[in-house]
Amino acid sequence: MASVSTYPDVMDKLVSLCKRRGLIFQSSEIYGGTGSVWDYGPLGVELKKNLKDRWWHAMVRARDDIEGLDAAILMHPRVWEASGHVAGFTDPLVDCRNCKRRFRADDPTIKGTPGTPDGQCPVCGSKGTLSEPRLFNLMFKTFMGPVEESAAIVYLRPETAQGIFVNFLNVQQSTRQKIPFGIAQIGKAFRNEITPGNFIFRTREFEQMEMQYFVEPGTDEEHFEYWKAQRMEWHQSLGLAPERLRYKPHEQLAHYARAAADIEFDFGGSLGFQEIEGVHNRSDFDLGRHQEYSGKKLEYFDQPNNRRFVPYVIETSVGADRTTLALLVNAYREEEVPGESEGRTVLGLSPALAPIKAGVFPLVKKDGMPEMAQRVADELRRSFAVFYDDGGAIGRRYRRQDEVGTPFGVTVDGQSTQDGTVTVRDRDTLQQVRVAADQLRGYLAERLG
Ligand code: GAP
Repeated sequence: MASVSTYPDVMDKLVSLCKRRGLIFQSSEIYGGTGSVWDYGPLGVELKKNLKDRWWHAMVRARDDIEGLDAAILMHPRVWEASGHVAGFTDPLVDCRNCKRRFRADDPTIKGTPGTPDGQCPVCGSKGTLSEPRLFNLMFKTFMGPVEESAAIVYLRPETAQGIFVNFLNVQQSTRQKIPFGIAQIGKAFRNEITPGNFIFRTREFEQMEMQYFVEPGTDEEHFEYWKAQRMEWHQSLGLAPERLRYKPHEQLAHYARAAADIEFDFGGSLGFQEIEGVHNRSDFDLGRHQEYSGKKLEYFDQPNNRRFVPYVIETSVGADRTTLALLVNAYREEEVPGESEGRTVLGLSPALAPIKAGVFPLVKKDGMPEMAQRVADELRRSFAVFYDDGGAIGRRYRRQDEVGTPFGVTVDGQSTQDGTVTVRDRDTLQQVRVAADQLRGYLAERLG
């Protein structure tokens, strides 16, 4: 359990802002919601897409040593035997015989020892009703084809990584990459978590952005250090405050890992520092196991030295939803506005990630201002997501954009229709400058990064 953070807990405020402004909704809300599954609304989908695009650019497009992949969610069931998930992807679970609730056996709110008379249920308070811990596999099972029998069981993937391992040779041979090189993908993963929660922090359906970097055994430690540094830099480049980020080496290693370190972000309140990304040295565990279980060689042929070997893998694995939450927590602020009685709520998102890049407003709904503002909005829309708003007082319209992180407010006023200029308001400094409407797209592009 993390110690209480020095940053405030803004989770409840964020959940309500996200719902009110169309970032994130509870899944199947009209039916009472689905446990720990969330839907991204019009602004949320833009934010998460901008984040995924940043990752894809940094990991795939901007490098010549990493290739992209989009593997299927459903895989051959033997994959999960080879990966160790069927046998070992489990959490210890206890049931309360009285209130029928379920808990992780290591839940810190349980008093006493489950399975003994002093074990006390943290919900109904009854003593001696908690079962002995039993192992619960976190993979979702379903059936392939029309028969529901054990031979037809398939799993929803609990990580995207295995799609990369089984395609290692397909990608290497089709692209003629030489070691060291990587394969990256973004995709959904599913885990039947016993204690999900904290909004989109731990959910049962989520997206991962994973990269497996294949290296020569013996060079793995230096690549591990390289990727640790790269990934921390990337998180800082998103605008996450450096003092809210840290590394945490793993004390207990997962079954596949030789070394592992988490990048943690301070989410504030009692959640505090929590993992957002794992960097792992997986050795030759995965390729070795897939060779063994499939009977197919997964070796790299090192032509200059005329030898074959199973590469080691350095993995970087980051949650798109969890990082979206970190961005929202990091960006949320409430502040006074000089000279105004009402304060404002701001999402100080980096302009490159903001769902809407500019709000476009006619100062009043007459004298040709709405027509000119529409033309300005249409011109900007060729390059960016913009929002046209002519409803209510101009201050209100600015506030509505501030709280969803829109970095610029463009206003068409009386002067605009005379001289062809508009005002551009900066979300953070509140400074306004006049810019020629026909130069506006270039002016904003320079500042959006
Ligand atoms: N392939 C390695 C792997 O999956 P992990 O540490 O289990 O490693 C990596 O997961 C990242 O995926 C985590 O750092 C987190 O950001 C995200 N993640 C894992 N479980 C999650 C969940 N239930 N809900 C949201 N994100 C999750």
